[in-house]
Amino acid sequence: MGLAKPVTAWLKMSEMTEKAQTAYRFYAIVPVGEVLEGERLFFELEGQPIVLFSIKNVFYATGDVCSHDGGDIGQGELEGFEIICPRHGARFDIRTGRVLQLPAVKDIPHYPVRVNENGFLEVGIPTEN
Ligand code: FES
Repeated sequence: MGLAKPVTAWLKMSEMTEKAQTAYRFYAIVPVGEVLEGERLFFELEGQPIVLFSIKNVFYATGDVCSHDGGDIGQGELEGFEIICPRHGARFDIRTGRVLQLPAVKDIPHYPVRVNENGFLEVGIPTEN
Protein backbone atom coordinates (compact mmCIF):
# COMPACT_ATOMS: atom_id res chain seq x y z
CA MET A 1 0.00 0.00 0.00
CA GLY A 2 1.37 3.42 -0.91
CA LEU A 3 1.51 6.17 1.63
CA ALA A 4 -0.33 8.77 -0.44
CA LYS A 5 -3.82 8.11 0.88
CA PRO A 6 -2.86 7.51 4.52
CA VAL A 7 -1.05 10.83 4.38
CA THR A 8 -4.35 12.30 3.24
CA ALA A 9 -5.91 10.90 6.41
CA TRP A 10 -3.10 12.45 8.42
CA LEU A 11 -3.65 15.81 6.79
CA LYS A 12 -7.30 15.69 7.73
CA MET A 13 -6.28 15.05 11.30
CA SER A 14 -3.70 17.82 11.25
CA GLU A 15 -6.42 20.25 10.23
CA MET A 16 -7.75 19.90 13.75
CA THR A 17 -6.56 22.62 16.04
CA GLU A 18 -3.85 21.76 18.50
CA LYS A 19 -6.41 22.15 21.28
CA ALA A 20 -8.76 19.68 19.61
CA GLN A 21 -5.94 17.14 19.20
CA THR A 22 -5.10 17.33 22.88
CA ALA A 23 -8.71 16.41 23.63
CA TYR A 24 -7.74 12.85 22.62
CA ARG A 25 -5.29 10.27 23.89
CA PHE A 26 -3.84 8.52 20.82
CA TYR A 27 -2.88 4.85 20.73
CA ALA A 28 -0.71 3.24 18.05
CA ILE A 29 -2.63 0.29 16.61
CA VAL A 30 -0.86 -1.23 13.62
CA PRO A 31 1.55 -0.28 10.81
CA VAL A 32 -0.51 1.49 8.18
CA GLY A 33 0.70 -0.85 5.41
CA GLU A 34 -0.81 -3.86 7.20
CA VAL A 35 -4.39 -2.67 6.83
CA LEU A 36 -5.66 -3.68 3.44
CA GLU A 37 -8.37 -2.01 1.43
CA GLY A 38 -11.79 -3.03 2.71
CA GLU A 39 -10.34 -4.67 5.80
CA ARG A 40 -11.75 -4.15 9.30
CA LEU A 41 -9.79 -4.28 12.51
CA PHE A 42 -11.41 -4.96 15.86
CA PHE A 43 -9.79 -3.94 19.13
CA GLU A 44 -10.48 -2.32 22.48
CA LEU A 45 -9.07 0.91 23.85
CA GLU A 46 -9.74 1.91 27.42
CA GLY A 47 -12.43 -0.76 27.56
CA GLN A 48 -14.26 0.55 24.50
CA PRO A 49 -14.81 -1.87 21.60
CA ILE A 50 -13.78 -0.21 18.35
CA VAL A 51 -13.86 -1.17 14.69
CA LEU A 52 -11.53 0.46 12.20
CA PHE A 53 -12.48 0.55 8.51
CA SER A 54 -10.18 1.04 5.54
CA ILE A 55 -12.01 2.53 2.57
CA LYS A 56 -10.03 3.69 -0.42
CA ASN A 57 -6.98 3.93 1.85
CA VAL A 58 -8.65 6.34 4.25
CA PHE A 59 -9.34 5.08 7.76
CA TYR A 60 -12.38 5.50 9.97
CA ALA A 61 -12.95 4.25 13.49
CA THR A 62 -16.28 3.89 15.29
CA GLY A 63 -17.59 2.17 18.35
CA ASP A 64 -18.41 -1.48 17.73
CA VAL A 65 -21.65 -1.44 19.71
CA CYS A 66 -24.98 -0.41 18.20
CA SER A 67 -26.73 2.35 20.11
CA HIS A 68 -30.09 0.58 19.69
CA ASP A 69 -29.54 -2.69 21.51
CA GLY A 70 -25.85 -3.50 21.57
CA GLY A 71 -25.46 -5.23 18.19
CA ASP A 72 -22.01 -5.83 16.78
CA ILE A 73 -21.90 -2.93 14.34
CA GLY A 74 -18.58 -4.01 12.89
CA GLN A 75 -20.11 -7.26 11.64
CA GLY A 76 -22.64 -5.37 9.55
CA GLU A 77 -22.78 -4.87 5.82
CA LEU A 78 -21.21 -1.68 4.52
CA GLU A 79 -22.87 0.36 1.75
CA GLY A 80 -20.63 3.27 0.86
CA PHE A 81 -20.01 4.93 4.20
CA GLU A 82 -23.13 3.43 5.84
CA ILE A 83 -22.78 0.49 8.18
CA ILE A 84 -25.94 -1.56 8.69
CA CYS A 85 -26.43 -3.14 12.08
CA PRO A 86 -26.81 -6.91 11.58
CA ARG A 87 -29.43 -7.19 14.33
CA HIS A 88 -32.27 -4.85 13.34
CA GLY A 89 -30.98 -2.82 10.42
CA ALA A 90 -30.16 0.58 11.90
CA ARG A 91 -27.68 2.53 9.79
CA PHE A 92 -24.80 4.74 10.83
CA ASP A 93 -22.31 6.91 8.95
CA ILE A 94 -18.85 5.54 9.76
CA ARG A 95 -17.30 8.93 9.03
CA THR A 96 -19.16 10.60 11.88
CA GLY A 97 -20.95 7.91 13.90
CA ARG A 98 -24.21 9.66 13.10
CA VAL A 99 -27.35 7.54 13.18
CA LEU A 100 -29.13 7.51 9.82
CA GLN A 101 -31.99 5.05 10.24
CA LEU A 102 -34.28 3.62 12.90
CA PRO A 103 -34.60 1.67 15.10
CA ALA A 104 -31.48 3.36 16.53
CA VAL A 105 -31.96 7.00 17.51
CA LYS A 106 -28.57 7.76 19.06
CA ASP A 107 -25.21 8.17 17.33
CA ILE A 108 -22.38 5.74 17.95
CA PRO A 109 -18.93 6.97 18.99
CA HIS A 110 -16.45 7.80 16.29
CA TYR A 111 -12.76 8.32 16.83
CA PRO A 112 -10.09 10.28 14.99
CA VAL A 113 -7.50 8.26 13.09
CA ARG A 114 -4.06 9.53 12.14
CA VAL A 115 -0.71 8.17 11.00
CA ASN A 116 2.21 8.83 13.31
CA GLU A 117 5.81 9.56 12.33
CA ASN A 118 6.66 5.85 12.57
CA GLY A 119 3.98 4.88 10.05
CA PHE A 120 1.53 3.46 12.60
CA LEU A 121 -2.17 4.12 12.57
CA GLU A 122 -3.23 5.82 15.76
CA VAL A 123 -6.76 6.07 17.13
CA GLY A 124 -7.75 8.78 19.59
CA ILE A 125 -9.94 8.32 22.66
CA PRO A 126 -11.52 11.45 24.16
CA THR A 127 -9.64 12.46 27.28
CA GLU A 128 -12.85 13.20 29.19
CA ASN A 129 -13.73 9.45 29.18
S1 FES B 1 -29.06 -3.66 17.92
FE1 FES B 1 -28.55 -2.50 16.15
S2 FES B 1 -30.44 -2.04 15.22
FE2 FES B 1 -30.94 -3.12 17.00
